[in-house]
Order: sequence, then C-alpha cells, then structure tokens
Amino acid sequence: MTAQILLPRTRQAVRRRALMISIAGKGGVGKTTLTALMLKVLLESTRKLILVVDADPVSNLPSVLGVKEYTTVGDVIEELREKMERGEVSSIPPEVFDMYVQDTIVECDNFDLLVMGRTEGKGCYCYVNAVLRGIIQTLESNYDIILIDCEAGLEHIQRRVDENVDILLIVTDSSRMGIEACRKIVELSEKLGLNIGRKYVVGNKVTNVDALRRALSDIGVDLCGIIPYDPLVEEYNLAGKSLLEIPDDSPALQAVREICRRIGLI
Ligand SMILES: Nc1ncnc2c1ncn2[C@@H]1O[C@H](COP(=O)(O)OP(=O)(O)OP(=O)(O)O)[C@@H](O)[C@H]1O
Ligand SMILES: [Mg+2]
Repeated sequence: MTAQILLPRTRQAVRRRALMISIAGKGGVGKTTLTALMLKVLLESTRKLILVVDADPVSNLPSVLGVKEYTTVGDVIEELREKMERGEVSSIPPEVFDMYVQDTIVECDNFDLLVMGRTEGKGCYCYVNAVLRGIIQTLESNYDIILIDCEAGLEHIQRRVDENVDILLIVTDSSRMGIEACRKIVELSEKLGLNIGRKYVVGNKVTNVDALRRALSDIGVDLCGIIPYDPLVEEYNLAGKSLLEIPDDSPALQAVREICRRIGLI
C-alpha cells in the first residue's frame, strides 16, 4: 500500500464522538498484531471512518500495516522545539500545535494513521505521552472509531491516555508476566478511577485456555477470545508484508473476527 500525506479526513465535516478502543498489555504479547487484524476486520465489515493511533514510541504499526512514509508527532514536537530554540517563534499556541499534528495524519486507502513516535529531549511542549490524550480529545469528533495500539506496560494508564476509552483490550500470552501485566493494568486503571467502558482480556499464542482462564479468574475481567499461534502471521512479519493482506484462512484473522463479533464491533 502506498501512503501519501494528503488533506486528512479530520479536516472534513465534524462528526460525533468516536468509539475508542485501546489495546494494551505486556511487551511482545501481540498488541500490534491484534490492532492490525482488528483494523482488517473492521475495514472488511464496516464503512466507518477509522483512525488508528500508534501510541508506542517504537512505532512498529506502520510497517505491520504496510505504511512506509510517515512523520511522527514526536518529530513535530522536535521541529517546533528547534524553531523556539532558534528564536523563530516565542511560543506555540495550541491551535498551531494541533495543525502540525493533523498534518502528520497519513491518509491510507480507507483509514487514517497517526504515529506518535518519540522525542529526543525536553522543552517545547511536553512529552509525547502527555500530549497524546489531548490529541485524542481533539480528533475524537472526526472519526467513528479510534483504535489505539498502546505502548507496552502501564505508562499510558498512568498518563490517563485511556481516560474515556469505550473498550480496553488487554492482550496476554500464557506467561506469568503477561497475566501480571493484565492485573496491574486493571488495578491501576481502577485505582486512578479511569472512565473505561468495558475491559476484556485477549489471549494470544495460548494453547492451554483453561490454565489461562484459571490464572485470570481473580482479575475480574472477561476473557473475550483466544488468538492461536498462526504461522502466517510469523511469515508476514518476517517478510515485511502488511497484515492487511493476510488471507482469509489465517487462523489468527478468523479468531480476531470472532472477538470483534463477541464485543459487538461487527
Ligand atoms: N498469533 C500469532 N501467531 C504468530 N506470531 C504472532 C502472533 N501474534 C504475534 N505474533 C508475533 O509476535 C511478535 C510480537 O507481536 P507484536 O509486535 O504484535 O507484539 P506487541 O505486543 O505489539 O509488542 P511490543 O510490546 O514490542 O509493541 C511479532 O513478531 C508478531 O508477528
Ligand atoms: Mg507493538
């Protein structure tokens, strides 16, 4: 897929508040894979306006979606910081910052992509994680669905990026660390009183579902589905092919379609 930076759909008519879906979990459990496969299912099943946000500073999602050219919000923050350091501007009004951010939105064939990236230093506005929440609030009226591939761990919960999220999907494999990360995400979101509509756990690359269910039983969050290990996902990853092109008989894709059905997305 070739992606061009064009006038984003966000510049078009104002719409109602988007359904916000965040995908969280320990590092390496399959958050980006789930995000990409959910996007594929949603694109096949609905004609809704979708914004996908790569909120992980490592920015893996563009390549998993076959998007090669993009600018990150981190790049924009750096650019504005340099402008201030050179004395070209004395301050950056919020509306100017929003305009710069909107210019980074990549308009792909039938969805938009916003890549947060990372910043090198301090000084201009604030760190990427802290500004993400504001960016989402600005953009939520322009889309039907916003899908956020979160950074591994708890930082996005701590920074209240997930405030007002309708569906929080917490991915885990069958490791103790993956399950503990689920527990911490749930506990911290409750402790901070985040307004989250529904929370589910998704098991990825899990073979013993009963053991996972038992391990999750005291967390108080439903397991909404299991994605099996899928050699096609591995093959596409190694070959650098977009998961949006994965064939219909992919077991992982079929499992994600079932998860989308269960949580009422399709
Ligand atoms: N169901 C699956 N079958 C086969 N391989 C998978 C599956 N899910 C994920 N993988 C592979 O596991 C690796 C990690 O997956 P992914 O990048 O989606 O995890 P992540 O949680 O986003 O990681 P990070 O925390 O680094 O962002 C990737 O190489 C991906 O292709
Ligand atoms: Mg990832």
